[in-house]
Amino acid sequence: MKLANRTKAVILICLLLSVSCSEPPSDTPGTAPTAQQVFVAFDSQVDSVLALMTLDEKIGQMTQADQEFLTDVNHIRDYFLGSLLSGGGSDPETNSLEDWRDLYERYQAKALETRLQIPLLYGVDAVHGHSNVIGAVVFPHNIGLGATRNPELVEEISRITAKEVRTTGMNWAFAPCVAVPRDDRWGRTYEGYSEDPQLVAELGEAAVRGLQGTDLSDPLRTLACAKHYAGDGGTVLGTGITTEDGTQFPFDRGDVPLSEEELRRIHMEGYVTAVAAGVGTIMPSYSSWNGTRCSGSRRLLTEILKDELGFEGFLVSDFKAIDDIPGDYRSDIETSINAGMDMVMVPDRYELFYGTLKELVEKGSIPMERIDDAVRRILRVKFAAGLFDPNWSPRADRALEESFGSEAHRVVARQAVRESIVLLENEGPVLPLDKGATRIHVSGPGANDIGMQSGGWTIDWQGDVGPITEGTTILEAIQGTVSAATEVTFSEDGSGAVGADVVIVVVGERPYAEFLGDDLDLEMSSADRQVISRARESSVPVVVVLLSGRPLIVETALDMSDAFLVAWLPGSEGAGVTDVLFGDYAPTGRLSYTWPRTVDQEPINVGDPDYDPLYPFGFGLTY
Ligand code: GLC
Repeated sequence: MKLANRTKAVILICLLLSVSCSEPPSDTPGTAPTAQQVFVAFDSQVDSVLALMTLDEKIGQMTQADQEFLTDVNHIRDYFLGSLLSGGGSDPETNSLEDWRDLYERYQAKALETRLQIPLLYGVDAVHGHSNVIGAVVFPHNIGLGATRNPELVEEISRITAKEVRTTGMNWAFAPCVAVPRDDRWGRTYEGYSEDPQLVAELGEAAVRGLQGTDLSDPLRTLACAKHYAGDGGTVLGTGITTEDGTQFPFDRGDVPLSEEELRRIHMEGYVTAVAAGVGTIMPSYSSWNGTRCSGSRRLLTEILKDELGFEGFLVSDFKAIDDIPGDYRSDIETSINAGMDMVMVPDRYELFYGTLKELVEKGSIPMERIDDAVRRILRVKFAAGLFDPNWSPRADRALEESFGSEAHRVVARQAVRESIVLLENEGPVLPLDKGATRIHVSGPGANDIGMQSGGWTIDWQGDVGPITEGTTILEAIQGTVSAATEVTFSEDGSGAVGADVVIVVVGERPYAEFLGDDLDLEMSSADRQVISRARESSVPVVVVLLSGRPLIVETALDMSDAFLVAWLPGSEGAGVTDVLFGDYAPTGRLSYTWPRTVDQEPINVGDPDYDPLYPFGFGLTY
C-alpha cells in the first residue's frame, strides 16, 4: 500500500536526518523563531533530502504545470513535478467539490510514485473564497474588504477560505493580492484592498495569518502567496501588455516608472508585513519596474526581498510571466532563475521548460548553487507545511465536506458584505427602508444575478453573469426580508415602479479579470443610466445599488437617485446588502479608494496635492 511505502520512505529520510520531521529544531529553547526562521529551521532535514536528489528531481521541484495542460498524468511522476495549479477556468469535469477532490487525489498519488515521494503543492486562486468550486462561499473581493477596515474579519475570512480549499485537498492559495492600485482604470483594481499602502499592509498581513495560521502543517490551513511583487498596481497609462492577437491594453502588466524610494513607499509595504507574518511564497509581478520585468529583476527578487527583507520561502512566477522577459525562452529561463525565481508557473510547455533548465545548469549558465537554493526554499516550505510528516495523508479530509459552503461560513460572508457597503448619498433620508412597505419595486441587471454580484475569479477566470454558483441574489434577499404583506415586484429595465413605495435599482459592471478589465473612461454604462432614468420617471424614490470593481463616474446617476450605495463585488451573500438597505445594519463602510469626479482626474489618490475628488478616501455615510 503506497501509504505504507511512503511512510517507510519518510522514516528512512528522517532516520537519515536523525531528527523528527514534524517539528523544526529550535536552537535556543524557549525562544520562538521569527516567522521566516521557521522555514530555515528545517534546513538540516532539507539539506539531507537535497543530498539524495538528482538534478532531474531538483529541476522537477522547480517546475509547476497547470493541470489542464498535462498531456499525460504520468508526467507528474516522470518529471518529478513539485507543484500543479488550477489557473482560472482550469477545472475538473463538473466543478463540483467531489470532482475537485478526486482530481487532487489522482495527481497527488502520481507524485507519490516517484523515488522520493515528495508530495505536490497544489495552487488555486482562492482570492475571495475557494471561488472556482460550485457551492463554495464567495466572499467580497478585496476592494470591499478594504472598505470594512476590519483586519479581524479579513483574518476570519481567510481562515474559512483555507478550510474550504483544504476540503478539496488543495494546499496553496495564490492570495492575498497586496497590490496598491493607484489608477482605477486598471482591470485588477478590485483585487487590491486599497490605494493606501498602510491599509493594504494591515489587511494583507491579516489574510496571511488567516490562510497559514500559526502552524503551516495545520490540516485546516493553506500556504499563502503574497502577490504580485512589486508595483503591479502602479503601472502607467499606455504601457500595458500587448496580447498575442496584437491587442494593446492600457495598464495591465505595464511599466512602473518610479524611484526605488517611491516603489518601496507605495508598493512594498504589503510584502514587508507579509514576510513578517511568515508568508511562505511570493509571486513576482508580470509588470516592469523602470523597464525591467519583475520576473527577471535580481534587484527586486534577490537583493531586496531575500537578502534585505529576509524572505526565506520561495518565489513562484506568474502564469507564463517569464516569457515576457526580453529574449528567447532559453534566455528567459536563465535570466529569471539567476535573478532569484525559485519555481516557474510554466504552465503549459513544462517538458520544454524542464529540458531547457537542465541544459542551462549542465552548461553552467545557471550555477548549481542557485538550483540548490531554489530547491532548498521549496522543500523548506513543504516541510513546514507538514508534507513530510509521517502522518501526512495524500487524501482530502472528507470530514471537512459538511462545513463546505455551510451556513456558518455564509454568516461570516454576509457580515463582510454588510461592513463593505459604502453609503454615498441618502436624500430624505430614504434609507433605511420599511420592511412593511406596501410595494417595493426592484429593477436592474444586477438585482437577480449571483455572477454579477461576484465579479471575476468566480467559477471561471473572467467570472460570468447568471446563476453560476450557489448563494442569495439581492432580489432574493429582499423577498426574504420584507413582511408577508409587502409586495415585491421586479423588472430588468427600470420600468414598473409607478405606485410603489420605493424602487431599488441594482446596476454595475459585468464580471472581468486582469487586462480584460482595463477601462479608459470609467463611465457607468449608458444602459445602466437608462435603467435609472426609467425608474426616475415613476416619481418614486430611487435607491441605487452599484456593483462595481472600482469607483465609476457616477455624477449623472447621482442626480437621478435619492440614495446611492456601492456594494463593490459582494459575492454569494446578497443578504448583506439588504441588511443595510432595511436598517438591520447601519452602514459603516468607508472608501478605501478615492472616488473621482471625472476620469481626467485619474490617477487620483489620498495625499495628492490639489486633491478634489467627488468623494474622498475614507468617505462613507451612516444612518
Ligand atoms: C494569473 C494572475 C495571478 C494568478 C495566476 C494563476 O495570470 O496574474 O494572479 O494567481 O495567473 O492563475
